[in-house]
Amino acid sequence: MQRDILGLADRLSSRYGGLVRIPVPGTKIFLATDADLIHFVLVESERSFTKGPQNKHFVPLLGRGLVLSTGAHWKQQRRMMNPFFSSAAINGFSGHLFASIDDVLTPWKNLIGSEIDVYAEMRKLTLQIILRSLFSGQGLEYGERLFQSFNLLSEFCIRRFFSVMPLPLSLAYILRPAAKRAYNDLQSMLESLIESRRNENNSSSRTDLLSMLMEARDEETGRPMSNQEIRDELMTIFFAGFDTTSVGLSMSLYLLSQNPEWRDSLESEADQKVSGLIPTVEETRGFDKITKAFMESIRLYPPAYMINRCPIEDVQYADYTLPAGSVVLISIWGVQRSPHYWSDPPRFNPDRFSEESERHRHRFAYIPFGGGPRVCLGKNLALLEGSMILGAILKSFRLTHRRDHVLHIKTGSTLTVANGMPMRLEARH
Ligand code: HEM
Repeated sequence: MQRDILGLADRLSSRYGGLVRIPVPGTKIFLATDADLIHFVLVESERSFTKGPQNKHFVPLLGRGLVLSTGAHWKQQRRMMNPFFSSAAINGFSGHLFASIDDVLTPWKNLIGSEIDVYAEMRKLTLQIILRSLFSGQGLEYGERLFQSFNLLSEFCIRRFFSVMPLPLSLAYILRPAAKRAYNDLQSMLESLIESRRNENNSSSRTDLLSMLMEARDEETGRPMSNQEIRDELMTIFFAGFDTTSVGLSMSLYLLSQNPEWRDSLESEADQKVSGLIPTVEETRGFDKITKAFMESIRLYPPAYMINRCPIEDVQYADYTLPAGSVVLISIWGVQRSPHYWSDPPRFNPDRFSEESERHRHRFAYIPFGGGPRVCLGKNLALLEGSMILGAILKSFRLTHRRDHVLHIKTGSTLTVANGMPMRLEARH
């Protein structure tokens, strides 16, 4: 099922409609691509649903961090973290964004005329941004090691997530000692980052998430977070916030190279609105077409292509019963490409995000960041980051996808590009 989950979503929903039971013996799995139903699950009846049981396979990586936690613990953590991700608060990250964009794009000037792997470059860039945002400069020392251990453990968790009969965790670790080593390595790296920060005399002068998490207090109880809670939230933000944005950016650059008329018009916008080489936050917030192009790219290629929920009691929806303990797979890919809500769905058209078009569309037909109380915490940051990076690239460079390269999308815990994205780099000026 993992190999063709996107094709399956398309086929089942076009043949049987917006709610389909997937025929896997011994399971009760439903696939949802109907915007009303998705609204019902994520908003109207969200109290009757919890995160699907399969998610437990990510516990070694994410612990009780926001993505996995439920109930009172989730509520408390979300309350503590919400303020750091508000539209105003993320202005504080602009220095990290700026420095990382500069670090990755400046060397491009020496690569003009050659081919670069845009997916690898975007991963490098978003990795830097997340490391700087989490730990300021300290994270970069650990960069490569953190990245390797994280990838290894994440791959291990994904296999278990999609496995029909996963072994108990302790046994799986014995068979895959490298995964256990990666787990221990991540624990000790984060522990030492947290401890060294606790020992700093003037840690409050840092504008990174680690400091914010350490200073956060629950507004009702006044309680600070424990080291383990901080570690779980750091891993969660790392997991949720880096490859998602890099895929969104890579697909935007790919789609622009396939749609030169849009690329030309976005380049003009960058020329008009970006005064230096890298847009400021204010300039980025003034973008129109560039932001819409990023939004359209994550419509066509939603980095979080599927999310899941599990009814905690029998839930009635129209003529259907969603039984307690079943799994509802919400196909973000499916609803964002459904002809019920989009005309000519496969066509790249950023104008779909004009005020007029949005007014006439079902609000839950476009949910790249999920919806309801568990909507993506990093949504504002991701939109700002995506538009700012696109603006910087469009201002100085032009990228053309190699003709004989066939793009291969892979479905892991998020959408990824399996075979890289070779593009020819040219200077615009
Ligand atoms: C284009 C980039 C991104 C996409 C498409 C995306 C998508 C999503 C989606 C669909 C969810 C909801 C999951 C669910 O309901 O089960 C989610 C949750 C989350 N995202 Fe993002 N995300 C992106 C970037 C980020 C960034 C940059 C961060 C942080 C720096 C972040 C942090 C989180 C967290 C912490 C949650 C869990 C929220 C909760 O359950 O309360 N995401 N994201």
